[in-house]
Amino acid sequence: MVHITRRERFSAAHRLYVKEWSDAENYNVFGACSNPNWHGHNYVLHVTVKGVPNKKTGFVENLKVLSKILKNKVISQLDHKNINLETPFMKGIIPSTENLALKIWQEIEPEINATNCTLHCVKVSETENNSAEYYGVFFEKNA
Ligand code: NI
Repeated sequence: MVHITRRERFSAAHRLYVKEWSDAENYNVFGACSNPNWHGHNYVLHVTVKGVPNKKTGFVENLKVLSKILKNKVISQLDHKNINLETPFMKGIIPSTENLALKIWQEIEPEINATNCTLHCVKVSETENNSAEYYGVFFEKNA
């Protein structure tokens, strides 16, 4: 089993807040990410898949295929968007880094698993210092 990773980037706006809380309470928990007038991050997405290298190509998966899935299913819904308002798969969900990793996993898992590899990890970095990784529910595809 070999793991391979594709990196994609997107820039997006968001606001972390709980509706029932005051701006002060939200600031206390979410800091600058609670700014009522929005703000943005330059996100980095790492998607790792695993499988057995194909005998002819030597690839676990053609990274061009993986990149296309990510662009179609995820990046197109996030890049230069307001995640709270414009990203269908994040509708009604607080756009934390954790939730982004979880929901991106759910968006891409069916398409990845339709190929010859298995989704292993979705990592979302909001800043150079802060990131979240999701490994899903344990699942091993039969070869
Ligand atoms: Ni933020």
